Amino acid sequence: MSRVVFVASGKGGVGKSVFASNLGATYAERGLKVVLVDMNIGLRNLDIYMGLENKVIFDVADVLDQVVSIKKAMVRDRRFQNLYLLATTQKREKFKAKPEDVKSLYDQLRERFDIIIVDGPAGVNEELRIASTGVDLAVMVATPEYVSLRDADMVEQTLRRFGVKDRVYIVNKVNKVFLASGRLPSVETITSIMKVPLLGIIQYDDSIHLAANCGSPIVFQGDSYITRNFNKIADRLIGY
Ligand SMILES: Nc1ncnc2c1ncn2[C@@H]1O[C@H](COP(=O)(O)OP(=O)(O)OP(=O)(O)O)[C@@H](O)[C@H]1O
Ligand SMILES: [Mg+2]
Repeated sequence: MSRVVFVASGKGGVGKSVFASNLGATYAERGLKVVLVDMNIGLRNLDIYMGLENKVIFDVADVLDQVVSIKKAMVRDRRFQNLYLLATTQKREKFKAKPEDVKSLYDQLRERFDIIIVDGPAGVNEELRIASTGVDLAVMVATPEYVSLRDADMVEQTLRRFGVKDRVYIVNKVNKVFLASGRLPSVETITSIMKVPLLGIIQYDDSIHLAANCGSPIVFQGDSYITRNFNKIADRLIGY
């Protein structure tokens, strides 16, 4: 059964888009039919992280306004037949869709794909409500800092009120040395702040950052501890 996974955060820049692109790439490598939907309305990023920016002609607002079909608006990944991207609009004012329209879009995508990964906006705002309507599961991304965790907790509670049934979180950009120093929240503290299950921890690693900025998710670059970690996270996510 296909699922819509929504990637959210309280603070911006914590790694939602990098996480979404690598998770999508991990499932695509397994042969699943995957679509990445960029719903960070007005702030398109995912196309760059996937190296597809020159192929985007239409966007999600064009689909919701019925200017083009979903099929025409989606861009297929260069590397995998079964991996697609639906880019967000660059113009916030162009986006007029209502939550029920977005839900209907996700439902149409369910008919074609095994997994729909939605890259959401940061923060608690109207965009969050619109983009999260009709999703099955939310993954909050936070960095190991008190402000990031508190904001992720707020978003998690908001998504619960919006009716998102299953909610988990990822701690990204973890530096083991800092963590051991005791000056950043420990895993115990993090799990006490967040009220939902921990899906995984991703280390801070320059290679993740460099790969994303070269338009190639790190998991596409062969076996590494990062790829193995993403595979474990992908396995666990299926369990929710
Ligand atoms: N685990 C990591 N290790 C190193 N760098 C990372 C890691 N995760 C993300 N980054 C880098 O952090 C920056 C922000 O990542 P990203 O764009 O995915 O965040 P975001 O939460 O989607 O931001 P926004 O809220 O603006 O949409 C990028 O430069 C990215 O390459
Ligand atoms: Mg982003």
